Amino acid sequence: MGPAHKSAGRLKIYAASCRNPLHNRLSILAFSSYGPRYFIAGARLATTDEDTTLANATSPEPTRRDFLYIATGAAATVGVGLAAWPFVDQMNPTSAVLAMASIEVDVSAIRPGQQVIFKWRGHPLFVRRRTAKEVAEARAVPPSDLPDGLARNANLTDTAPATDANRTIKPEWLVVVGVCTHLGCTPTVSTPQSPQGSYGGWLCHCHGSEYDTAGRIRKGPAPQNLAVPPYAFTGPTKIKIG
Ligand code: FES
Repeated sequence: MGPAHKSAGRLKIYAASCRNPLHNRLSILAFSSYGPRYFIAGARLATTDEDTTLANATSPEPTRRDFLYIATGAAATVGVGLAAWPFVDQMNPTSAVLAMASIEVDVSAIRPGQQVIFKWRGHPLFVRRRTAKEVAEARAVPPSDLPDGLARNANLTDTAPATDANRTIKPEWLVVVGVCTHLGCTPTVSTPQSPQGSYGGWLCHCHGSEYDTAGRIRKGPAPQNLAVPPYAFTGPTKIKIG
């Protein structure tokens, strides 16, 4: 066996000398090019001369016992992981608790034409203070001209049409979930300084979906308008979402 094999580490020396195909598979996993230490099911394998956590530290050549240690360690790690899962899962909030999750935000610092992104239930939440021009542009579009004619507003019925009035509670404030309805990317807001798309709202760079200033899909593969979450104003500039 040449020096190159020795420098690769103790396990490779063993695996390379073994005809058992499983052992050789271990050598492939353990000696990829990703770095000096490797993991299989949470068990650390010895890969350098000084790292002998699982390899035999005293024997000049790895023995069958080395492999047994590795195999047993990996199996034990998987076994503990499976046994622990039900206990960990019990500690997660129930779907009912998640469904109630809500946040309250103060939007007083947002200037007309600006958007601020909050995080709600793990998703970006766009709060946009629309200018009078943006509101007027959105109101001029009849729902019949829209790819998605439904308001998608959790505060209204499922059949409410996608008029601009049905997309907001106060015309100046647009609150939508910032998840593209195509495949879930986060669209980029359009501003006069940095226009995105042709409709003044948002452009999703993933596949080119364009939304208008009411968050309604106007062009591209996204099938639905950006979702309006359940929300309410708790003060002139305070909004509770969820
Ligand atoms: S995810 Fe937005 S266009 Fe595809």
